[in-house]
Amino acid sequence: MIVLSVESSCDETSVSITRNGKEVLSNIVLSQIDIHKAYGGVVPEIASREHIKGITMVFEEALNEANIEKKDINLVAVTKGPGLIGSLLVGVNAAKAFAFSNDIDLVGVHHIAGHIYANEISEDLEFPLICLVVSGGHTELVLMKEHYDFEKLGETLDDAVGEAYDKVARTVGLGYPGGPIVDKLAATGNPSYKMPNISLGDTYNFSFSGIKSHVINLVHNINQRNEEVNIPDLCASFQETVSEVLVTKSLKAIKEYDAKMFIIAGGVAANKGLRKKISERITMVNVVVPEFKYCTDNAAMIGIAGYYQYSKNNQTDDMSLNGVSRMNLE
Ligand code: KG4
Ligand code: ZN
Repeated sequence: MIVLSVESSCDETSVSITRNGKEVLSNIVLSQIDIHKAYGGVVPEIASREHIKGITMVFEEALNEANIEKKDINLVAVTKGPGLIGSLLVGVNAAKAFAFSNDIDLVGVHHIAGHIYANEISEDLEFPLICLVVSGGHTELVLMKEHYDFEKLGETLDDAVGEAYDKVARTVGLGYPGGPIVDKLAATGNPSYKMPNISLGDTYNFSFSGIKSHVINLVHNINQRNEEVNIPDLCASFQETVSEVLVTKSLKAIKEYDAKMFIIAGGVAANKGLRKKISERITMVNVVVPEFKYCTDNAAMIGIAGYYQYSKNNQTDDMSLNGVSRMNLE
């Protein structure tokens, strides 16, 4: 089965062609990061306009690179949420128009299901598995007992981990998106700054607003004393505390649910400090991490998730895309 998929939930316009929920024939990603950088974050109105400008070209490139004719496509999959509403609308309408005019079935895919299924590109998923979702908008621990079955064990009660990374970077003037820069600097620093306890006890929930405020206050206090912040050390301290809590809770879930596999999903899955800690501490199960290019937003992951959603439910969405949500990730 050949799937054409579309992702436009934030600041990446992406179209991909995938085969049988596994093989990526093309995955074109047009990033708007350089445009939003000047504002220190994504400006929703600009994002939707940029999607409109780029989407037709991205569709054409994806079809050309995969060397596929429109008549060969069996399914159209599109991110239907969550995300910036104006941005989502562009991808959703392009996908609907393409599906309708070529008489192809359509499915609307949950963005986080896409991030989770980015792992299937590297390795066949084995169940039960625990997935740590760490993106700019979500932080969740998810149990999957079979394909396309998601049970949320816990989530952040306030900020997402990627959001906290971006805020810390902004506080010390590192630019946008901050996560990768903090990650790089953390590798050159020592975790010498004391950070608050963010464990929230024995639950599967997370909280990152406390550590974010702590970093902001710490930097202000140091500046008021006319002293210099050691930025690599600050990044290392933040990263150590955050990755420790993510790995500790993941380990607890792996043990409690007797998982066969552990996977990570979302933009922060690209974090080298987190990957290192996972490889050192999670040794009792098969650990899969997506390739770097499939960690951040892309349409290939939506195509893989769309394939499994369609195969499992044998159900398509109508053009309103208002179909019942088939998952537990809201
Ligand atoms: O999953 P994603 O591309 O978009 C959402 O669905 O939110 O995640 C973007 C987030 C941003 O907050 C970005 O700073 C963070 O992922 N990120 C990282 C790294 N690469 C991307 N955070 C920490 N370390 C990284 N290497
Ligand atoms: Zn995402």
